[in-house]
Amino acid sequence: MALNKVKLRRNFLKLLGLGTIILGGILSFFAKDILSTKPSLPTTTQPKTYMLPMPKFSSNMMLEKALACRRSIRDYLDVPIPLDALSMILWAAQGVTEFNYGFRTCPSAGGTYPLEVYAVVGKECVMIEDGKFLPEGSYKYNCKTHSITMVKDQDLREPLSKASLGQYWVRDARINIVVCAVYERTTGRYGDRGYKYVYMEDGHVGQNIYLMAAALRLGTVAIGAFYDDEVKNVIGAQDNEHPLYVMPIGVPRHFYEINEADISKYYTRIRGQQ
Ligand SMILES: Cc1cc2nc3c(=O)[nH]c(=O)nc-3n(C[C@H](O)[C@H](O)[C@H](O)COP(=O)(O)O)c2cc1C
Repeated sequence: MALNKVKLRRNFLKLLGLGTIILGGILSFFAKDILSTKPSLPTTTQPKTYMLPMPKFSSNMMLEKALACRRSIRDYLDVPIPLDALSMILWAAQGVTEFNYGFRTCPSAGGTYPLEVYAVVGKECVMIEDGKFLPEGSYKYNCKTHSITMVKDQDLREPLSKASLGQYWVRDARINIVVCAVYERTTGRYGDRGYKYVYMEDGHVGQNIYLMAAALRLGTVAIGAFYDDEVKNVIGAQDNEHPLYVMPIGVPRHFYEINEADISKYYTRIRGQQ
């Protein structure tokens, strides 16, 4: 009887030990992700969906300065941009800023939100950390989770440039943001007037991207000259998503910069001529 009890206790202890080892293994497998403190490393929740770094209010450029330095820039250096910059550009385009109705950085007629945003990322163009890059491809932005999901897995800058009448700044950029309209979301409520609203909203997105790029000392240009169907095809947009703007983003060879004093001098001179 006493021997059985000893055996039973030994078996129980063995089982407990085995359980601890298995549990430890499982925990240490997941701990890498749970304990990771690297802010810019994307975590994959499902195949090819990347959670972007959280938006940070950390640019040191005032709005007035960003307005003054906003310029269409088409000449970019061959250097990658950080994932944090892509995160901020997408957030500026359509990020959520209100949590009851999900209102965003851009106004939208009746909150119908007709725009979808794609990021066309070149090979070794968006740096996650030293020597590690976001895979090249076309990604669709999910503003609700601030994440991107891969739609195509190639470097599409060359075909996108061709679809944009050969504008080579599309090819030279590190990424291209493509803003697409799903018209029926807005025309469904406002009829034909909805088209006008959609174009207005695209303008808001474009300006937000310009200003965010300036604040990050990046360069961009709003492109409207392209073959709609070709762009749609290249980025892998859905049938009802119609491209409105292509906006290349890169590190400018020359960042356009003027200050308060330059602007005052200009107006003083012009007023003197009246
Ligand atoms: C609706 C629209 C379409 C445009 N299309 C193009 C384009 O296809 N290619 C391009 O290089 N620039 C394009 N631009 C940029 C303009 O050329 C640029 O805004 C203009 O020269 C003024 O320069 P700034 O933006 O530096 O003030 C476009 C701008 C707008 C608003």
